[in-house]
Amino acid sequence: MAKNLLYLSKASLLLLIQLLATQSGSFTNAKRIPEFSKSLKDVEESQEGQRVQGLREVKHYLNKYGYLNYEDSNNFEEDEFDEALEVAIKTYQTFFHLKVTGKLDTDTIKKMSMPRCGVADIINGSLTHPQFSFFRGEPKWPYYKRHLQYAIVSSAIPNVNLTEVKKACSLAFGEWARFSDFRFEFTDYVGHAELILGFHRGEHGDGNAFDGPGGTLAHAFPPTNGRLHFDADEIWSDSSYRVRSNQVDLVGIAMHEIGHLLGLGHSRDELAIMFPGIAKGQFKRSLSFDDRDGLLTLYSC
Ligand SMILES: *[C@@H]1O[C@H](CO)[C@@H](O)[C@H](O)[C@H]1NC(C)=O
Ligand SMILES: *[C@@H]1O[C@H](CO)[C@@H](O)[C@H](O)[C@H]1NC(C)=O
Ligand SMILES: [Zn+2]
Ligand SMILES: [Zn+2]
Repeated sequence: MAKNLLYLSKASLLLLIQLLATQSGSFTNAKRIPEFSKSLKDVEESQEGQRVQGLREVKHYLNKYGYLNYEDSNNFEEDEFDEALEVAIKTYQTFFHLKVTGKLDTDTIKKMSMPRCGVADIINGSLTHPQFSFFRGEPKWPYYKRHLQYAIVSSAIPNVNLTEVKKACSLAFGEWARFSDFRFEFTDYVGHAELILGFHRGEHGDGNAFDGPGGTLAHAFPPTNGRLHFDADEIWSDSSYRVRSNQVDLVGIAMHEIGHLLGLGHSRDELAIMFPGIAKGQFKRSLSFDDRDGLLTLYSC
């Protein structure tokens, strides 16, 4: 049995190395948004009617996370503080329980500079349920899919080793299994897996480029896509109950992203695993009442 396991791990390592060999070239020109925090400082305290350089970045940010509805990114090249931006900022402030001023005040800027999940918070620019949410069309796994297998396939090597990544994933899946009918099992056979988790860097082929350290930490797709990506440029913690101040908690982020794999969107409840922001060194590894309520609601109708 032990021999078997060892052999399987070797197989997945080989796959990882192969992927690296074939894909590493495409990561050298990865698109990043390194100046975002800097440009945020320039727009601080701006408000409707003004024209300030850097507002374009704020519009990109709010559009990415669902607060604006621009389909074409050329539509907001301008640094104009228009009414749509004010409305979007108010919705953002409401979502994150900030004072709703409609201005880019210090607290709002601070919140926008924090690391977060790459999935959008809201759909069509308006808030629905006060806490948990679902994706558009409420996609979920069909009733006959309650035993899901997961594989780990990466195109970039993170700072944690595969053993630790497996342990972290097992802990994260275990927590969701504890409060649902779902059962999750690791497999080395990618072809058997409904869920594929892995570490990637910069542009990695799904149109949602990672952005280097900080900013976006990870993202995942709604059912039944099954893909979950971690940003290989973050400093990840191992699976132990110790997260240093410069580390991102792998177990906690995995739990959050697994929520997306199951069909949950972002929650406004700061205690929820499905809340989109998490500070470095922060530790959240158990499902809140809101997370469980969300999953139960999605799968009971
Ligand atoms: C969101 O907008 C799209 C297109 O404008 C529309 O088809 C869809 O029904 C809307 N969804 C919700 C949840 O309002
Ligand atoms: C993986 O990392 C853990 C924690 O950092 C360490 O204890 C373990 O020895 C490492 N295992 C391998 C195979 O390198
Ligand atoms: Zn998320
Ligand atoms: Zn991705």
